[in-house]
Amino acid sequence: MDAAQIKEVVSEFVSLKQRGANYIGLCPFHNEKTGSFTVSPSKGIFKCFGCGEGGNSVHFIMKHEQLTYVEALKYLAKKYHIEIEERDLSATEQQQQSDRESMFALNSFAQKYFSDILHNHVDGKAIAMAYFQERGFSDVIIKKFHLGYCLNEQDAMTNEALRNGYKKEFLQKTGLSYFGENNRVVDSFRGRVIFPWHSLSGKVIAFGGRVLDSRTKGVNQKYKNSPESEIFKKGNELYGIFQAKNAIVREKCVYMVEGYTDVISMHQCGIENVVANSGTALDSAQIRLLHRLTSNITLLYDGDGAGIHAALRGIDMLLSEGMNVKVLLLPDGEDPDSFARNHSAADFVDFIKTNQTDFMRFKANLLLREAKNDPLKKATAITDVLGSIALIQNMILVSEYIKLCSELFEKSEEILYSELNKIKAKANPNNFVEKEIPVSQGSMPLLSIDSDLDTAEKDILKFVLQYGDEKVLLRNFSEDCVEVKIWEYVLDELRNDGLGFENQLHELFLKDLELHKSDATFSVSSFFVSHQNPNISLLAAELLTEKYQLSKIFSKNEALEKNLQSMTSAAKRRIEELKKQEEERRKIWLINAVTNSINEYKKAIVSLKIKELERVLRDNSTEDIVAVMKEHARLSEIKRMLASALGQVVIK
Ligand code: CTP
Ligand code: MN
Repeated sequence: MDAAQIKEVVSEFVSLKQRGANYIGLCPFHNEKTGSFTVSPSKGIFKCFGCGEGGNSVHFIMKHEQLTYVEALKYLAKKYHIEIEERDLSATEQQQQSDRESMFALNSFAQKYFSDILHNHVDGKAIAMAYFQERGFSDVIIKKFHLGYCLNEQDAMTNEALRNGYKKEFLQKTGLSYFGENNRVVDSFRGRVIFPWHSLSGKVIAFGGRVLDSRTKGVNQKYKNSPESEIFKKGNELYGIFQAKNAIVREKCVYMVEGYTDVISMHQCGIENVVANSGTALDSAQIRLLHRLTSNITLLYDGDGAGIHAALRGIDMLLSEGMNVKVLLLPDGEDPDSFARNHSAADFVDFIKTNQTDFMRFKANLLLREAKNDPLKKATAITDVLGSIALIQNMILVSEYIKLCSELFEKSEEILYSELNKIKAKANPNNFVEKEIPVSQGSMPLLSIDSDLDTAEKDILKFVLQYGDEKVLLRNFSEDCVEVKIWEYVLDELRNDGLGFENQLHELFLKDLELHKSDATFSVSSFFVSHQNPNISLLAAELLTEKYQLSKIFSKNEALEKNLQSMTSAAKRRIEELKKQEEERRKIWLINAVTNSINEYKKAIVSLKIKELERVLRDNSTEDIVAVMKEHARLSEIKRMLASALGQVVIK
């Protein structure tokens, strides 16, 4: 964390301008024209006041490069030449690891080789490059997707790889070559143009190779793809994800198309938030990969039977993974590739925006058209649509869809709900909780965490993070003045009353503070911002950016500081005196504010306990009414005391 200074890490992706102690730039996580993205080198955090994203260097890399926490740490470690020691692997794990690494290395070599052939070899230029140009691919886009060509010779690629020290074993495992009888070696992709597949983080995991013939009728295999291997499970990967990831996050949605050329042409036309599942059924692992980037997906398929079929197949899977699904079928005879070539990005996006429908309308229209006026078919259609709705977890969405369904099929919501519940019960016989979902009430679960309490806990932590290291003078029981740090004061105030935080994450802060009680070098904010638990460091960064009045009231008067030089010594002394008084007032304000936040918290706890006792009394669920009432009176008195300390009047 010391090495990965936030300003330097962010600067690689965002151009920053200095403003006072901070730096400002255009937020990479949402579209904006004026910078609300702020980097604070002293706190070690970034924060966008437009979209709310914030965190430390690791969080920035996680978000920007769409990496997991550990991947982001590795990324930064590599950048700053810090060696990472992993736990000792077992012999088999080591073997697997080194196999995977060898395969990645070979794929990376092969990709560069294929690209080199495309750009520099006579055949590459005359045959493959000419093919791409005929298809309208620009040089920029050819480079962006690392396209290539495999010469139409038996083993040119294989031999080059072997000459460079890559092993036969991995040529075979990656599927780049196959070995026939009499040790006959063959390049699997010979005579094909190459479309490399990248992982989310940009590693080459596989290849697709297309025959050059533009007439593909009669060709038994237009595309050939790398086989499944230790580094390529087709169901886990999406073509184009590496080139699309930032745009997906920025645009807050992804377009799903069928093929390589659809992805590439859409990029060329200017639409970059697009991936392909390469003609096969969607897998839940692919959806989860996308879900890390966005919840919104539009299926963009040809308008023919195959396209419709593909859309129908994908919908339910996407819904059950919690995605919001829209569908757009292109006009007959068009695929995204051809459409992108004939339209500008603006026109294409416009066309999508006006013509995409949510999955419900898509399905309903399709099924209703087929059913015509056949009541039986219509009933089946309704059941089919309800089957999809049953997969949605978000009950607010469900109620919206039921409303829409009721309009489209002209059935009452009550009937639809009751059918929906039958479907749910059937799908999950052991677990049908609600017999009937009341139409008007919805069925949102009650929030289990008391939100007052949660806010009060956060308020206290805000003080700890923002002012925790400041020292204040307090009087103890024997009226002696003692100097304590704000964080120690907070911790003592809570623990002396036997209190902790209800929110587990908040409580972890307190536990860590306890461990540093006699640590003189401990600095609260830098400790928590660079905490190894990413949830803690993220919350710390968040709390540090929420401002209190304090800094406004007591901010430094810079004009005064400047003029100080030219003043008489008497005036200087006077100013120094005033500054000291001001600082004392600030400390008093601070300690009062902190004490208030602690009292608010205690009051919230006492209120909860009182409520609980009142419930006991109301439900008559106690033997000892007198004891409960006594406790109730005691807590009410405490609550009154806390409130009066806070300058409030207890009404109830
Ligand atoms: N596909 C495949 N193997 C095949 C045929 C298709 O892997 N034999 C995959 C490819 O990812 C292909 C996608 O399915 O991109 C869609 O197939 P298709 O529409 O036939 O190909 P296009 O992408 O349109 O390619 P082209 O325009 O070059 O014909
Ligand atoms: Mn095509």
